[in-house]
Amino acid sequence: MSLKLGSDIAVMIFESATLFSLAAFAFPSNFKDISEDTLAELTELAARISRESEVKLDSTKRALNSDAQRIDTTGDHAYIAPGPNDIRGPCPGLNTLANHGYISRTGVDSVVAVTAASTAVFGMGVDLSAFLSVYSGVMAGDVTSFSIGGKPKTGGLLSGLTSSLGLLGEPQGLSASHNRFECDASPTRMDLYKTGDAVSVNVPRFEKLAAMPKGPNGYDITVMSKWRGACFNDSISTNGHFFTGPFTHLAVNAAAHAFVYRFFGNWSADGPYLDLETLKSFYGVTGEPGSFQWQQGRERIPDNWHRRPIGDEYTLVSLNLDAVYAITTEPQIIAIGGNTGEPNTFTGVDLVNLTGGVFDAATLLEGNNLACFAYQVASIGAPDILRGGLVGTLLGTALSKLADALSPILANFNCPELIKYDKSLLEAFPGAGSGL
Ligand code: HEM
Repeated sequence: MSLKLGSDIAVMIFESATLFSLAAFAFPSNFKDISEDTLAELTELAARISRESEVKLDSTKRALNSDAQRIDTTGDHAYIAPGPNDIRGPCPGLNTLANHGYISRTGVDSVVAVTAASTAVFGMGVDLSAFLSVYSGVMAGDVTSFSIGGKPKTGGLLSGLTSSLGLLGEPQGLSASHNRFECDASPTRMDLYKTGDAVSVNVPRFEKLAAMPKGPNGYDITVMSKWRGACFNDSISTNGHFFTGPFTHLAVNAAAHAFVYRFFGNWSADGPYLDLETLKSFYGVTGEPGSFQWQQGRERIPDNWHRRPIGDEYTLVSLNLDAVYAITTEPQIIAIGGNTGEPNTFTGVDLVNLTGGVFDAATLLEGNNLACFAYQVASIGAPDILRGGLVGTLLGTALSKLADALSPILANFNCPELIKYDKSLLEAFPGAGSGL
């Protein structure tokens, strides 16, 4: 597949259909298009991305507004433990949203709903939340909706669009997205090939995180960056199939660690602080250090908890800054590669060879290059049909509108063009599997 990537990272999922109208992809005869209503929702999402990215350019510091930042945990948004048919998965943020009815309590919802809830409840920038959600829709769902955990038992919202497109088979949900989304060296989950369970909180691991010396703002970014280094080292020494792919490691793993503080921290007049009680609540952990307990589906927003200031959302650019910061404090984590079958056999891929000389370990830390590389690689994993096989369909129209909304934001990243990506270099790693 040729890569026409450049600074247009939006290509990853949202490749403008018109650009590729001559491509030789055709949609299958059993193709089920989205409804006019879904098209309208996705069109509104695209408009919102454009509106909010313009506001973001105005970098005025946002004032605190305690009432607006306090998140409702009553009435429709009271915590309710999931029922037997409700699904939960590897993301404590999404599990929390479902447990409080900010997204469907079933654990299956549309990319539009997940984007909106992540932004409203946690202050995630709409660029980042739309990217994460649409990526999940494509890689683990039916393009417009997805399961936050395993495969839906009842079908739920999922229309089977993806399987009708013959893309990645039946939508499996985030829990089964290993190395496409779900990845190794997570803050509280174990590596898939180590325990077979990358979805549940591993209590001994949570104990270690909780015991980390706190920073000035509790479990803040200094702590989470050190913790990320510790998780990386642990995976090297215990998981023979440890794998660090460009997208999952440089973007998703960075996000998983940074999000803990950036989104779970409680904002007061003095700024954000993440204490142990709040951390436990968002992770659904009870008990005291040394005897913590975890049960699936207990993630909760603490009462009287305040999100980030309105207008100070955490965006794709914010994530890149945190990802670079983590590498400057824990330089070993920059390595793309993996163990070669046994613990302590970590071998890094030469970035120059992998990227045709576009990036090396030094240039990767410049500007937005880390994000550029990660998202360009994510684009390679997008099913070919999205690159032009949907012309004339409502779904194609919707994806094209999203592309148009995201392109200007991503063009600001000024990415060097990744003209070559030698994925064969990753074949040396048994844990890479279908990883990008
Ligand atoms: C917007 C849509 C989102 C999607 C599709 C998503 C997806 C995921 C996935 C697949 C993982 C597993 C990564 C791994 O293996 O380490 C994950 C982890 C994580 N996510 Fe999300 N997420 C989203 C939003 C959020 C939000 C809003 C928050 C915080 C409020 C959040 C916080 C986290 C954290 C802290 C982890 C690490 C879990 C651990 O301790 O191992 N995510 N997310």
